[in-house]
Amino acid sequence: MGTLRSAAWFAAKGKTGIMHRSWLRSEGLPDDALDGTRPVIGIANSWSELTPCNLHFRELAEHVKRGIWQAGGVPYEFPTTSAGEPLVRPSAMILRNLISMDLEETLRANPLDAVVLLAGCDKTTPAYLMGAASVDLPTLLITGGPMLNGKYRGTDIGSGTSIWRLTEQFRAGELSAAELAEAEGCMARSNGHCMTMGTASTMALLTEVLGMQLPGSAALPANDSRRKKLAHLAGRRIVEMVGEGLRPSTILTRAAFENAVRANAAIGGSTNAVVHLLALAGRVGVELSLDDFDALAADVPTLVNLMPAGQFLMEDFCYAGGLGVVVERMGDLLDRQALTVTGQPLGQNYLGAECFDDQVIMTAESPLKPAGSGIAVLRGSLAPNGAVIKQSAASPELLVHTGRARVWDRVEDYLSEADDPDCDIEPDDVLVIRYSGPKGYPGMPEIANVALPKRLLEKGIRDMVRISDARMSGTSYGTVVLHVAPEAADGGPLALVRNGDRICLDVPNRSLELLVEEAELAKRRSAWQPRPVPGTERGYLRLFVDHVGGADTGADFDFLVGGSGDAVPRQAF
Ligand code: FES
Ligand code: MG
Repeated sequence: MGTLRSAAWFAAKGKTGIMHRSWLRSEGLPDDALDGTRPVIGIANSWSELTPCNLHFRELAEHVKRGIWQAGGVPYEFPTTSAGEPLVRPSAMILRNLISMDLEETLRANPLDAVVLLAGCDKTTPAYLMGAASVDLPTLLITGGPMLNGKYRGTDIGSGTSIWRLTEQFRAGELSAAELAEAEGCMARSNGHCMTMGTASTMALLTEVLGMQLPGSAALPANDSRRKKLAHLAGRRIVEMVGEGLRPSTILTRAAFENAVRANAAIGGSTNAVVHLLALAGRVGVELSLDDFDALAADVPTLVNLMPAGQFLMEDFCYAGGLGVVVERMGDLLDRQALTVTGQPLGQNYLGAECFDDQVIMTAESPLKPAGSGIAVLRGSLAPNGAVIKQSAASPELLVHTGRARVWDRVEDYLSEADDPDCDIEPDDVLVIRYSGPKGYPGMPEIANVALPKRLLEKGIRDMVRISDARMSGTSYGTVVLHVAPEAADGGPLALVRNGDRICLDVPNRSLELLVEEAELAKRRSAWQPRPVPGTERGYLRLFVDHVGGADTGADFDFLVGGSGDAVPRQAF
């Protein structure tokens, strides 16, 4: 092992070295722990009681430490900002870039040679990958694993997905308040992140496909003791990675991102992966565009039969054989030579993976959905910079649809109108919820899949075309056009739509058109005025609205794109 980065602190001569070592003595390590020859490994922990999905991470960190000690390293666990997906307002997305900055600056400022990242809930995983990629120390991520399946009256219920379904049934009068309350208590019944194929499971699996976490790690339920073993092995492995100089910049190549985009289609993954992978690619200087998500996935069938697109949950996916089966079944659709944290290529990591349930992980010959039915990227007069729709979560009969626009600038106004039995909303209408993008809300919340009007639900209507510059939860479903760019708050055409305009959605032709004459649009455009976003006058939210980019490039801050590396900062005398 060459000279360690941490040696600049701990092997420094005289007073400086004493300063750096002596305070750490309060932690009670042996005299030779900090002699400048042992790799010092950070363990970044997004544990928080406000992030219940990550609640078990302090115990998990202890297992990482065992492995690090065993391999001759010295571990230092540290906290960062965290984000509990269902709690953080206005949206957990507000904190993704902050968490990434927090991690980046903590890594750069401290005597660390490498880092193990403990992440799980939706935003923590991409935030950690982004922050660590900008520093480029040897990095290995461990996700916390999914919860056990939810169980309600003999059926499996899934995080998020079942909440949308059960509350719809309740609104339609098919479920009592007592039944709904009982179901509420049956969903999150163990440690772990959402166990549907929502954003957390998606990002966990894609982190593994990208090569940034150990094989088999993403799918193991949080409470499975084998996760502790993997944490231990991760601790050992990160010490080796310091010796090998294996850094994210060698792993996160264009080939790795292409693999992740394709795998996202095969697992029926979340639309949020689009935003997160674009932002991560921006940190490492890999060219990845919104259109790649459509083009690269065009020949990839959906193999994984998990909610919301399918039937099962992550626990079933794990027992069916997990990600290795998907990698095997994708064959040449993946670049099997892409390097991973094991030091081995992706294909090598999963050789001989066996499937134990073809209903859960289906074959390429008999897939859940045929190739090309995943995320579609739409363009047109309503979305010049693009928009996305998850076809597998949409209603086939609505994929080509023209309807009357009904427009709301505030989702709250839509929701109160939707509860009014006399509301002027018809099943063929196109619901437009705008000023909900990265800048406009702010934070691009997961509100695009707004609940349908009560009156229509009672009539049995279960889906309508909805269009927004917001996101939707990876656990949800519906014919919902998301991430419309440029967003309304940036003066995109979405801001120019008026009640009664006609909008044409044509997913097979990848188009989203506002059927209004250009002369009329030009008139509306010149009358459009930017509007201040309430609550963003100062502080972090001010920084956020001043610097956040569009959804089509990952909604990162302009000044965070790229990286600063791990150069050792000047010392304090
Ligand atoms: Fe944390 Fe879904 S709420 S992963
Ligand atoms: Mg979410």
